[in-house]
Amino acid sequence: MSNCSIVAVIGIGRIGCVTAACLARAGHTVRGIDINEARLAAIRSRCLPFHEPALHGVLEEVLDSGHLTVTSDLHEGIASAEFVMLCIGTESLDGTAVVAPVLQIVDQLVQAHRDGIFNGTIVVRSTLPPGTCRERIQPQLAGTRLRLVFQPEFLREGSSVHDFVDPSLVVFGSEDPAEGARVAALYEPNDTISQYVSLDEAELIKYACNAFHALKIAFANEMGTLSKRLHARGSEVMRVLALDTRLNASAAYLRPGFSFGGYCLPKDVRLLESCGRHLDLELPLLAGVLPSNDAHLDRSIADAMGLKVRSIGIFGFSFKAGTDDLRASPALSLAEALLREGKEIHLFDPFFMPANLSTTQPLLPVTLRAAHLHTDMKSWLAVVQGIVLTQAPGTLEAQSLVESSLPIVDCFGIMSVPRQDGAQTNPPDAAPLSAPVGTLVIAAAAANSSQPIELSVVVPTYQEAAGINSFLHSLCSSLESARPGSYEVIVVDDDSPDNTWQIALAAATRLPAVRVVRRQGERGLARAVIRGWQVAQGRLLGTINADFQHPPELIVDLWKALTTTDNAAQSRSQPSAAQVAVATRYAPGGGVGDWSPPRHLLSKSATLMARLILSDRLHGVSDPMSGCYLFNRSLITGVELKPAGYKSLVEILARSRGPLNLVEVPYRMELRTTGKSKVNFRCSFDYLTQLWRLRSAAKLKV
Ligand SMILES: NC(=O)c1ccc[n+]([C@@H]2O[C@H](COP(=O)([O-])OP(=O)(O)OC[C@H]3O[C@@H](n4cnc5c(N)ncnc54)[C@H](O)[C@@H]3O)[C@@H](O)[C@H]2O)c1
Repeated sequence: MSNCSIVAVIGIGRIGCVTAACLARAGHTVRGIDINEARLAAIRSRCLPFHEPALHGVLEEVLDSGHLTVTSDLHEGIASAEFVMLCIGTESLDGTAVVAPVLQIVDQLVQAHRDGIFNGTIVVRSTLPPGTCRERIQPQLAGTRLRLVFQPEFLREGSSVHDFVDPSLVVFGSEDPAEGARVAALYEPNDTISQYVSLDEAELIKYACNAFHALKIAFANEMGTLSKRLHARGSEVMRVLALDTRLNASAAYLRPGFSFGGYCLPKDVRLLESCGRHLDLELPLLAGVLPSNDAHLDRSIADAMGLKVRSIGIFGFSFKAGTDDLRASPALSLAEALLREGKEIHLFDPFFMPANLSTTQPLLPVTLRAAHLHTDMKSWLAVVQGIVLTQAPGTLEAQSLVESSLPIVDCFGIMSVPRQDGAQTNPPDAAPLSAPVGTLVIAAAAANSSQPIELSVVVPTYQEAAGINSFLHSLCSSLESARPGSYEVIVVDDDSPDNTWQIALAAATRLPAVRVVRRQGERGLARAVIRGWQVAQGRLLGTINADFQHPPELIVDLWKALTTTDNAAQSRSQPSAAQVAVATRYAPGGGVGDWSPPRHLLSKSATLMARLILSDRLHGVSDPMSGCYLFNRSLITGVELKPAGYKSLVEILARSRGPLNLVEVPYRMELRTTGKSKVNFRCSFDYLTQLWRLRSAAKLKV
């Protein structure tokens, strides 16, 4: 392996021993540290102090090769280590967590750091109660340069070597995802996508996983007990249940939100529970489901009362999103409770159909007749002072809710909730948002930089997990071989649910020129590109999509076209004077892959449209829709940019200063082979709107 590190593992028990041996086998230099001399002696003589299949061979191999050594001397073990992994036991006999030994070791590491012995990253693998890292360990590290990552352990005893090599889940908790990515690099190559979360989240994930396993076993056992008494085979019931990987053994229904209701769930849970009661069976898990649901509703009522406003809007009043079925809707129970508290209630549901009022109205409890029903979101927002979300809003609704600036009780945790780090969260699984139009300005590059950057390439991404790693490697290797002076590649990801930014971050640990910006609370290609340029330092700014439709080496061709006179590019001006280089499909030598006729037509008409609407600015520009171009930063420094939609070049060309000297580099746009196109009808609409906006702006300038 290329990147070998020095790793110290403190606590050579079941977890520490597997971790140390497997990391050593991967090529790292590993030192195991333990206070238990008998255990160390056993390991030195190749004897495992516990039974763990497959570990013995690995241990023998790494002790023989010298990649693993063990010691009881902390200082000897941690000297010049880049990573120290804490794997000591944290359980007391009564099952409660004991954190004191971990805190004591951290104190020792801090002292060693002050004595100049250790200056690396502390990776806590021991299971710790939620909040320990942030509230207790981080304060211990204050004033030092030591870094902290919490990496929960999911190895199963009995198959831990196999689980280490092929983990089911890999989680890194840290305040800086880049630090998590540095630890992740220790485990390369690794096919399981790493999850980068906060310290608190990582600690909780470990407990949530175990609680969920326990819950599943208890549920299967209760169902097995009930089945047996009803002359059914519990194993068959549960086997068939697990076959449904869309609704049952899946992520469905596993997102925190509002209470459940509706015609089926409450009545069927009630029936199973009463079945057990009649059979004299104790089924506490099933019996606890409806009380748990009621308690959740009570919390929402208390949260809504906490809004301290008179007029409350309830978003969603059917029993679940996407239906107009009001039967046993918990949102209506919430409304009733709030009416009883003297609140004015305004109900809005995107799926409510006034035409069905006559059939749905009789189902509204009489007590709800005092509530106001709304069918128009705008007028609903105008009369409410606070909102309770009982359903997750769609993208456009979420946008209207954010823009209303009203206080929101959000059981889903999806409405731009400020996180600890000040970042914002996005509505999950939403289609790409058209970000609100707002001004972005690009400043001049920092003049006092000792290492001026020649070229900054922004790679905007959304759901490009499949190809981003190889794309970044290809792009960097093209740039390396062309050597355009110092360069940087900035990935701007719109918080893709497929972990694109995390994969890019992991790639960045091996590609020093790559930086990753995770944009939260906003979506939209053109804005993402310009956001990237805002943090870029290059004299030349450029962009290329990570979809391989543009070959990564195209950026080098563009750079050459801008910086040399000797090129094959076609130019409207002298190449040496050109300020913009555009990769062009619609010029001689260029073309497109095996596109369908409708796609051809759409692309051609959008191109013509742009040239027609912005004729004075785009006259002679063959491909104003290009997603790959490079230009001189000075062209737009200080200019107010208002990008929207998915095409940024028209924005740059239309708003840039002075006459345009442009060089075109023909290329052939290939069909996508990785990932999926995100272009839809909405994108085309946004594009046209943007053209008209630019047209009006141009007229104003005149
Ligand atoms: N065993 C598992 O399957 C499993 C799975 C996931 C997480 N975990 C967590 O991992 C942690 C370790 O578990 P384990 O099963 O490996 O424990 P273990 O008891 O097998 O090993 C702990 C080791 O730490 C050593 N130790 C204790 N204090 C020390 C100190 N001050 N300095 C150096 N060494 C010290 C002990 O001598 C022992 O060898 C626990 O927090 C546990 O909850 C365990």
